[in-house]
Amino acid sequence: PKITLTVIKADVGGFVGHTDVHPELLEIAKKHLKEKGKMLIDFHVTRVGDDIELIMTHREGIDNEEVHKLAWDALWSCGEKAKELKLYGAGQDLLKDSFSGNIKGLGPGVAEMEFEERKSEPVIIFMADKTEPGAWNLPLYKMFADPFNTVGLVIDPNMHQGFRFEVYDMIEHKKIIFDTPQDIYDMLVFIGATGRYSIRKVYTKNNEIAAVSSTQRMNFMAGKYIGKDDPVLIVRCQNGLPAVGEALEPFANPYLVAGWMRGSHNGPMIPVSLENAVPTRFDGPPRVCALGFQLAEGKLIGPQDFFKDVAFDNARKKALEIADYIRKMGPFEPHRLPLEELEYTTLPHVVEKLRERWEKE
Ligand code: 13P
Ligand code: 13P
Ligand code: MG
Ligand code: MG
Ligand code: MG
Repeated sequence: PKITLTVIKADVGGFVGHTDVHPELLEIAKKHLKEKGKMLIDFHVTRVGDDIELIMTHREGIDNEEVHKLAWDALWSCGEKAKELKLYGAGQDLLKDSFSGNIKGLGPGVAEMEFEERKSEPVIIFMADKTEPGAWNLPLYKMFADPFNTVGLVIDPNMHQGFRFEVYDMIEHKKIIFDTPQDIYDMLVFIGATGRYSIRKVYTKNNEIAAVSSTQRMNFMAGKYIGKDDPVLIVRCQNGLPAVGEALEPFANPYLVAGWMRGSHNGPMIPVSLENAVPTRFDGPPRVCALGFQLAEGKLIGPQDFFKDVAFDNARKKALEIADYIRKMGPFEPHRLPLEELEYTTLPHVVEKLRERWEKE
């Protein structure tokens, strides 16, 4: 039977502010999955910034009610502890009081895929803090469609035919499939607008799953700003798919993403080790971590903390220079997000307050 790799994540309270997860919460999550997760083959619990990440393998398929409930209950228990410790924003991403069949729409981010485990199955779990699902568009494009990033597209006969992208419209809730390379120019029209369109899945031309991202936009669900979605992404590697190094390569350039400070600023995505995934300066800059695992009959062999590598030192240095530069702009665009973006989050309250003071000309 096929293996399912499920990653479910949430911020249920920050330690301190929005910087990190308290270690007691991680212990609670581990204990919960260990004791209640009878259907799991294996799991790995970690955190990036203030987000708890539950990485799980099983044979129950995607959207499985028991697996989703297990994750919900684990995060809920962590949230209870967060309340007791009066952590910041305790229960932040748990929008509903009770579980109802599927964790999607309840606040936590979800990325999961089901596949036949190959002879060797290297996977990477990318996890970001202080940004949003659209932050994966640029790196996914580079990994699966840009031969200057992924030379396998040119020289590996198993990749030469290109990949298939599923793009999701997070505002109108609809999806479209693009075949690359032929649809690249059409696709870029949409995926360049990262606040609205998000690459949700990438398939091979044989419809084998290659990558899945979390695309929930919590603030749309909540109707007000309650934090960024701090997305996750699963990428399968090698053997007709991008090499591990091709999947990591896009992060060598710290591109700009939305989500820094109050979810309302653009800033450089800085690749870091788990140890350094504690965003402090102006609550950032946005972080990305990459954990590698080899699957062995569903067992998670790992992790390998990829961005520990000194090869990403220059990306970090450059990111810090960009951060210094862009911070000087203070509340001005394009450091601050454009009005349309803030319309869904922080802006309506200020606009409402000043409504009476505007005079028509
Ligand atoms: P190794 O010979 O180290 O396995 O490298 C193979 C490869 O293709 C790396 O991209
Ligand atoms: P989080 O989504 O990581 O909680 O970030 C919230 C925020 O506004 C930080 O300034
Ligand atoms: Mg937070
Ligand atoms: Mg966060
Ligand atoms: Mg968040």
